[in-house]
Amino acid sequence: SGCNSESRGALVVLEGLDRSGKTSQSSRLLTYLEGLGHSVELWRFPDRSTNVGQMISSYLSNKSQLDDHTIHLLFSANRWEKRSLMETKLKAGTTLIVDRYSYSGVAFSSAKGLGDEWCKAPEIGLLAPDLVLYLDIQPEKAAERGGYGGEKYEQLEFQRKVAQCYQVLHDASWKIVDACQPIEDIEKQLQELVLECVMACQKGKPLANLWS
Ligand code: TYD
Repeated sequence: SGCNSESRGALVVLEGLDRSGKTSQSSRLLTYLEGLGHSVELWRFPDRSTNVGQMISSYLSNKSQLDDHTIHLLFSANRWEKRSLMETKLKAGTTLIVDRYSYSGVAFSSAKGLGDEWCKAPEIGLLAPDLVLYLDIQPEKAAERGGYGGEKYEQLEFQRKVAQCYQVLHDASWKIVDACQPIEDIEKQLQELVLECVMACQKGKPLANLWS
């Protein structure tokens, strides 16, 4: 019957500064949803496996230099090249847990001084997340965690600017979670938020485009 033909997977994005815990919380969410029997995949941006992704990777590791506008558009192109697969998966009922998305794109480039509106423009028409989980941590605290790997943006002064830029991006799809709590507490909060979102998408919450 067609009664649940609108059922789909959820697009869940994790955002936050470097070392805020996005990556480990993403994989915990994957395990959690799989355990409940959901179809779910872990994605991340930049997706370094594509040609564009390799250019980004080389830039981040200081092996190549690119103008700020150019790298911004490459990050965006890297999302565009995955858009149709993303839509196919969601419509097939697979939930995607995505480590960084357009908000990283805008926050990191506007932290360099590029205008907000200019940064947002190439993101228009990408799929809008159903839920954005922002792992909130002070830049100083994140730096204390160590493990900045020496990539281009992993410097305290720059992360301070990124934190400010993230702050103007909040919308109704954002949930801000204190990233300095014990790991299991964060995990529980994220599980509740994600489960509620997955249920809403199963019930047919429509897919939307950025920025809406
Ligand atoms: P990521 O691969 O998540 O780095 P790591 O796993 O080392 O934390 O992202 C690499 C860097 O790219 C990170 O500092 C954030 C930045 N970035 C942008 O500047 N724009 C973007 O659109 C994205 C997705 C990431």
